[in-house]
Amino acid sequence: MTPLLLDGRKASQALLESLKKDVASLNPSLTVVQVGDDPASTSYIAQKMKSCDTVGMRHEHRHLPADTTLEDLFAVIEELNTNPDVTGFIVQLPLPVHLSQYVPQVIRAINPMKDVDGFCAYNLGKMFLSKEFEHLPPATPSGVMQLLAFYDIEIEGKDVVVVGHSNTVGKPLSTMFLNRNATVTTCHIHTKDLARHTREADILAVAVGKPGLISADMVKEGAVVVDIGITKTESGLKGDVDFDSVSQKASAITPVPGGVGPMTVASLIRNCVRAKQRQLESEKSENSF
Ligand code: GUN
Repeated sequence: MTPLLLDGRKASQALLESLKKDVASLNPSLTVVQVGDDPASTSYIAQKMKSCDTVGMRHEHRHLPADTTLEDLFAVIEELNTNPDVTGFIVQLPLPVHLSQYVPQVIRAINPMKDVDGFCAYNLGKMFLSKEFEHLPPATPSGVMQLLAFYDIEIEGKDVVVVGHSNTVGKPLSTMFLNRNATVTTCHIHTKDLARHTREADILAVAVGKPGLISADMVKEGAVVVDIGITKTESGLKGDVDFDSVSQKASAITPVPGGVGPMTVASLIRNCVRAKQRQLESEKSENSF
């Protein structure tokens, strides 16, 4: 079987195109705070800035030195929280080692109305209520949903298995599938027999960061396979799914790179538009957020 290739470049272009009108009328902005020089972060940020250019959105890359103190980082966050010209901002992760233990405090310091990463407890917690309350969803799970929607892949009633239970990808992704009436199993590092679960999946989404974790024998014939992992290896960027063998069985599959990655960036920009819409609404009515 030749599977349908879930092309994130194509779908993200369509999403970015659809955002241009709102960007032009609302004039939102995105600031990305980078501490230090992690090469992967530098490359991700360049992609984010490029997509801002594509849709004509104002953007700023606030690059702080690697030895920035927690106090200095909090001061930058406070400035961005209160600057009316900044619609949304993110603190790119990972932080340098001396700050990495403070990630929860850093995320908590961000004004939820400007938290376009959708990482803070307020925005994550709202997703729990229903699809209608997914106002600022984390960009990667949101990108997965939009990729599936672009290719008209039905979710309701499907058996979905999510592998990975991080706060930024696995857990919110499971929640979003549940909000769309799938039957969801979330697997993780402590799952006793991973293959027993993955073999049952109509839709299998994997976000672990272990190249080749999912082999063909772990996948049901005709499954939709979404590979969220991306790891730099000696032979290039690799996903969590063994693409060559799994694509013999899947009915649809994402490539790595060019699958979920571009959707994540487009979803971040969509969140900036949404943040601006909600900020304008809350200016009108103090209780609307
Ligand atoms: N590092 C890798 N992906 C992300 C992301 O989506 N947001 C932030 N803030 N850091 C990241």
